[in-house]
Amino acid sequence: MKIYIGSDHAGVDLKTCVKERFGGRFEFNDLGTFTSESVDYPDFAHPVAENVLKDNGSFGILICGTGNGMAITANKHAGIRAALCWSPDIAALARQHNNANIIVLPARFISPETAIETFEAFFSAQFEGGRHQRRIDKINL
Ligand code: RB5
Repeated sequence: MKIYIGSDHAGVDLKTCVKERFGGRFEFNDLGTFTSESVDYPDFAHPVAENVLKDNGSFGILICGTGNGMAITANKHAGIRAALCWSPDIAALARQHNNANIIVLPARFISPETAIETFEAFFSAQFEGGRHQRRIDKINL
């Protein structure tokens, strides 16, 4: 499974951690940032969202301090469902009910261990369809 991954400076360490832990299982396409120098989260959220939309079946992961900047930006793209996830249960439901195609992690408010479990739960869960598809069909304006 191909995953486009991006972070700002607040998320760069967690991005490295996720890639190291899951590199054998997923094909990560890292769109930056690559240092702790201060950057602007939309410069990474937009490219990840655009690639996920273009590349059928791919997913995205975005990481910033709170996760909110990344989620707000990515969700500007019609067809992107970016879910801010801070626990394994929330992450599983983001896939099961919302068919989220980008997981957003709040690096400053989640431990690396919980982030790994949250990521794992997201990619272990399946979209349930049915009434959830009906609701998703009503999202876009
Ligand atoms: C960076 O300081 C911080 O604003 C950013 O990582 C994020 O939390 C924005 O939503």
